[in-house]
Amino acid sequence: MSKDLLLKARDFEARYGPFISEEQRPAFHLTPTIGWMNDPNGFSFYKGEYHLFYQYNPYSTEWGPMYWGHVRTKDLLHWERLPAAMAPDQEYDKDGCFSGSATELPDGRQMLVYTGVRRCLSPEGRTEETQTQCIAFGDGTNYVKYAANPVLTAKDLPEGGSGVDFRDPKVWRDTDGVYRLVVGNRTRDGSGAVLLYESADGEHWSLRGPVDASRNQYGLMWECPDFFPLDGKQILFVSPQDMSPIGLEFHAGNCTMCLIGRYDRESNTFEREGVQAIDYGIDFYAPQTLLAPDGRRIMIGWMQNWNTVSSKPRDCRWFGQMSLPRELSIRDGRLIQAPVRELESCRRNKVIYQDVLVNSETNLHGIQGRMIDMTVTVRPAGRGDYSCFRLNVARDGEFVTTIRYKPDTSILKIDRTHSGSNSDVVHTRSLLVRPRNGEIKLRVIMDRFSIEVFVNDGEQAASAAIYTRQEADAISFDAMGTVLIDVEKYDLEV
Ligand code: FRU
Repeated sequence: MSKDLLLKARDFEARYGPFISEEQRPAFHLTPTIGWMNDPNGFSFYKGEYHLFYQYNPYSTEWGPMYWGHVRTKDLLHWERLPAAMAPDQEYDKDGCFSGSATELPDGRQMLVYTGVRRCLSPEGRTEETQTQCIAFGDGTNYVKYAANPVLTAKDLPEGGSGVDFRDPKVWRDTDGVYRLVVGNRTRDGSGAVLLYESADGEHWSLRGPVDASRNQYGLMWECPDFFPLDGKQILFVSPQDMSPIGLEFHAGNCTMCLIGRYDRESNTFEREGVQAIDYGIDFYAPQTLLAPDGRRIMIGWMQNWNTVSSKPRDCRWFGQMSLPRELSIRDGRLIQAPVRELESCRRNKVIYQDVLVNSETNLHGIQGRMIDMTVTVRPAGRGDYSCFRLNVARDGEFVTTIRYKPDTSILKIDRTHSGSNSDVVHTRSLLVRPRNGEIKLRVIMDRFSIEVFVNDGEQAASAAIYTRQEADAISFDAMGTVLIDVEKYDLEV
């Protein structure tokens, strides 16, 4: 295999990445140096900074042979670009260095754990894929693949497991000093499962057993698992493929799922107590978390969905962005997400309105923009009823993205049908929210090419990419019936 692949990619990104101007990208959401990006990988804290790697094809804005792109940051908002970390340059990963994670070794090296993909032709002329788990060691910039890779292969699977769908290891060093990783797989019935492996040194791994499985209830292959304690509970994240819709909780296709439960490490038993979506918007997949030195559990996701990737601007030089990093917690047995608090120091030009009566299309002086942090609280006006409230953003005479709320059903809907996309993909998503004393609170973060909505102090999050031209920066409010709204809005300067 060519050892030059990584050098070529590094040369390519250094040469052509700078052709993309800052204004052509989001200001604080990560985009690839150039080309295509999907899942976050190796989200970790190392040598005093956060590191983030990502699934990367520098040569095209389409998915292709997977490299690992690499950035680091001190504040989770300003990303410093580093050279690509890995290329598919070995026999065992020649068809892709798929998703994985990172941890620090006691000797100060960083260890990357990832899935090596290899395709070959069967005697019957069929292309067969094998997925194995591999490791690499490095110093935060350069990584060397382990000479004895792969470290986990089909022979390490439980009976009935799949050597074809065996991917996305999430590693951590546990409180007892043992390295553990969870990885996606399938059970004999063909549906998704998460397996747990253990290692004393990070190099030699053995199967501990399954953690949980879909049993054909929540989609087929379970991609990108993560497994961590949070506020006295144990959380299992997975990104199921081929999900069948379940009410408004899960839509068809690629979903994200949070299983909340209890875990006994001794017996490796995970007991589910609750199941919910992680993000209820249009574009979110494959999230990964880290434990920050200050104790925060921080998550970042790919703010895109496989089912909508054909909706992209013509002639774009980058495609795919990460979500805002979000602080996680548990409240009333549910997952709570809040934009990282670092964002607050980027707020400028505060504009505040209180008790504004809205019963027709309303513009408020100072409320516009495409890089904003805005909280809108909506309540019925006095005894008056209302049947619908609308918040319109990224708006001009032609385009608009709408967040609509109907109190009779408690359904919030994000609608980007008129955001400028000409692709026939899903453009709306509805979610069931929980009003408090008849009130709902929407925190909206926009960053040129996206909108993330946090409902009722992070009880639900909903994300969508929007590629509307930047001149469309008007914001308006509208109601059928009468509502009172409070608005607190900041420009974001990152
Ligand atoms: C999830 C995923 C992973 C895989 C990677 C390949 O989005 O399909 O399962 O490792 O993307 O790029």
